[in-house]
Amino acid sequence: MNSRIILASLIIFFHATYGMQSSDLTLINFSPLITRDQIAERVVSLGRKIDAIYCKDSQTPLVILTVMKGAMIFAADLIRAIQMPNTELQFIQASSYGHNGTQAGQLTIRGVDQLTIENKHVLIVDDIFDTGVTISKIKAQILEKNPASIKSLVLLRKLGKSKVKETPDFFGFEIPDKFVIGYGLDYKECYRGLPSIWAKD
Ligand code: IMP
Ligand code: MG
Repeated sequence: MNSRIILASLIIFFHATYGMQSSDLTLINFSPLITRDQIAERVVSLGRKIDAIYCKDSQTPLVILTVMKGAMIFAADLIRAIQMPNTELQFIQASSYGHNGTQAGQLTIRGVDQLTIENKHVLIVDDIFDTGVTISKIKAQILEKNPASIKSLVLLRKLGKSKVKETPDFFGFEIPDKFVIGYGLDYKECYRGLPSIWAKD
């Protein structure tokens, strides 16, 4: 193969994997907010923080309770940044947006009955704390299952919209009140696979 063909293939490959998504997003008015490097750095520091807190009682299992689907990618990276061997991964599903786009609808929580969390430390991991209603309702349902402790961690904390008394125990980044996508967060179920986070202008 001559070098021109190799170069053309490389351009097509990069355009297909990165360029097209970015230009599509620019067309529908999204701008970059948090880079993949900033996320990676923060995930490592959150992992260290979690180790430091929970290693004081390392006999008791720690459950990373991932709120699907939005927190899936964050939790997958986070659990690899946690060194505590006694760390479990369990899931629940919460949905309020679905195909509605940027308008939240009725909140549904599924999968609480299947959890095995009695006498374990539970860390609820979600993508974003917006009004706080999701975390607050999940916490109330989890408490009924007698965990050893319960805390919450969100990647993003949106400022200015909270409707509840609680705040997340830990967060990755505070962001302005804008609709965001990427790194697990969706718009009408799409864009979850973007490696960085984008905000609607
Ligand atoms: P809350 O109950 O208002 O705190 O909303 C939490 C849930 O709404 C999150 O777990 C997300 O799934 C979804 N959500 C809130 N804001 C956004 C956003 O800007 N982009 C994508 N999803 C969002
Ligand atoms: Mg969610």
